[in-house]
Amino acid sequence: MLKVIVADNYEEVSREAFRIVKETVKILPEPVLGLATGSSPIGLYKKMIADHNAEGTSYDKVRTWNLDEYIGLPRSHDLSYWTFMHENLFEGIDIPEENVHVPCGDTEDPETECAKYEESLKDVTIDLQVLGIGADGHIGFNEPGTPFDSLTHVAELAEQTRRDNARFFENDIDQVPKQAVTMGLGTIMRARKILVIATGTNKADAVYGMLRGPVSEDCPASILQNHEDVTVILDKAAAYRL
Ligand code: GLP
Repeated sequence: MLKVIVADNYEEVSREAFRIVKETVKILPEPVLGLATGSSPIGLYKKMIADHNAEGTSYDKVRTWNLDEYIGLPRSHDLSYWTFMHENLFEGIDIPEENVHVPCGDTEDPETECAKYEESLKDVTIDLQVLGIGADGHIGFNEPGTPFDSLTHVAELAEQTRRDNARFFENDIDQVPKQAVTMGLGTIMRARKILVIATGTNKADAVYGMLRGPVSEDCPASILQNHEDVTVILDKAAAYRL
């Protein structure tokens, strides 16, 4: 079942998302969170840190698995997703480092890394998976055409994705890696609950495809119509085609 919340602005979107994350972290004794990078969840992560500082919400027993990582960037690189997660969330909360999982893209053998990452999730069920959505409907780095039953794999980034992400790489598309390790659509669909955050008019077509389009590999996010517990939080701009 898909539930859609349209909020007034990014602040409200982040507040709604935080409410759901906090509930999961508070209720479950050993919560497992699936986490995403990108601009969309930054407001949520800021609220998690502020709440940890103000209310003492603890992440001591929380384990996290991130969706994806660029291939070819060392973890220490400013723009690796490992660095993004540490700077935007992990350093601000009390999660033990050994509870954090981000795929490693700095490897000669990404296929083995994919298999290891999937294996690390074998006996784990993600309680709440946070997702952004790409302008072409990708989730994680599962670009259009990715099989619905895919597991963690090496993904080729679509041209549009590399253009969109160039803003982080000095607006130079040539600096954007061409491949990534990503959880597959099958991996993502195993999560108990999924939370999608999307804002801005450039996401409106992808949001429409996700919610109203046919369930098709042409729009990877449309697979979420087959999941039983998805909440989509949008601002008005991202929701305008609905
Ligand atoms: C990136 C990431 C996705 C992210 C999406 C949207 O390429 N791989 O996990 O959700 O694109 O990013 P943003 O939130 O910055 O718009």
